[in-house]
Amino acid sequence: MQRSTLRIDPRFRTPAPRAFDLDADVVDRRLTDPAAERRALVTGLLATPATIAPKYFYDAIGCALFCKICNLPEYYPTRTEARIFDREREAIVAAIGTGKQLIDLGAGDCAKAAMWLPWLQPSTYVAVDIAVDALEQALPKLALAYPEIDIRGVLVDFTRGLDLDLDVADGPTTFFYPGSSIGNFTPADALEFLNGITRHCAADGGLLIGVDTKKDPARLRAAYDDAAGVTAAFNRNVLVHVNRLLGTRFRPDGFKHVALYNEALSRVEMHLEAIDAQTVTIDGIGRIFRAGERIHTESSYKYAPAEFVAMLQRAGFANVRVWQDDARDFAVCYATTHSAG
Ligand code: TRP
Repeated sequence: MQRSTLRIDPRFRTPAPRAFDLDADVVDRRLTDPAAERRALVTGLLATPATIAPKYFYDAIGCALFCKICNLPEYYPTRTEARIFDREREAIVAAIGTGKQLIDLGAGDCAKAAMWLPWLQPSTYVAVDIAVDALEQALPKLALAYPEIDIRGVLVDFTRGLDLDLDVADGPTTFFYPGSSIGNFTPADALEFLNGITRHCAADGGLLIGVDTKKDPARLRAAYDDAAGVTAAFNRNVLVHVNRLLGTRFRPDGFKHVALYNEALSRVEMHLEAIDAQTVTIDGIGRIFRAGERIHTESSYKYAPAEFVAMLQRAGFANVRVWQDDARDFAVCYATTHSAG
């Protein structure tokens, strides 16, 4: 029997229980092959050097810790970007235009986009993220505050490729990618990702993106190794998450948080360094981590504004505007595929 052809008279349908009854739908487009996900995670842990993909940071605790990171005194990017947005609001809105659909990549708690909604007055707001909890908490509130906007959520791992054909309607589209998340891709992957965005920007659309700039290595390092130890807790929490996913027994306190600036590659690297030798059984294999051996958990590439503009142009954007704070700690770009503008 084909279930999809089964029609139930609506009068006899019992409403599904819902935590909220507002007009904010979340669709789940996460990779439907958990076995492959698991294999990739295991392969990374067994490799030398071992790696864990950054997406595993964002379980419920990880999301909460990340919110704290954004408010740390050492972590200047979030507040600097917010200041640029505040100061340049009108110029940015004038460049983007109003009434378009707004696609928020890595929306999280949607707080950053919420600041723009009254200004950009989008017809549709699509919040895209891998973290289900954040979206499900944020979207009902936004739907209540902005009944005139069609508000939707999409759960997807867009680091595997940006396929939003099902979620992006025809018509002018603004992409929003703040927080220097682009820096968490390698430059080659960033280029490909940005190029994927240009496909949707043809008809009077564009990309509003924030990127962290190169600066004094000591300041860069401090931003990823704060005195209160929040970033360290965030980094170690990935092992708790991995333990839950794989049934492994990593001891998070057996690993030290390491943040360093790799000047040759212009990136901050985060690692978890084994304090003493330890053996962890991963998928039946005893993986030995020697004392001092590191698991690479994330990189955050830094770009000079001119370098980043060149990357946007190589990705297929033609017109790029840049706004910076006075200290030039951060850059906000609005890029379109039109040559004039
Ligand atoms: N993308 C931002 C950055 O690289 C935010 C971020 C992602 C971050 N992962 C992090 C910040 C880990 C601190 C630690 O800066």
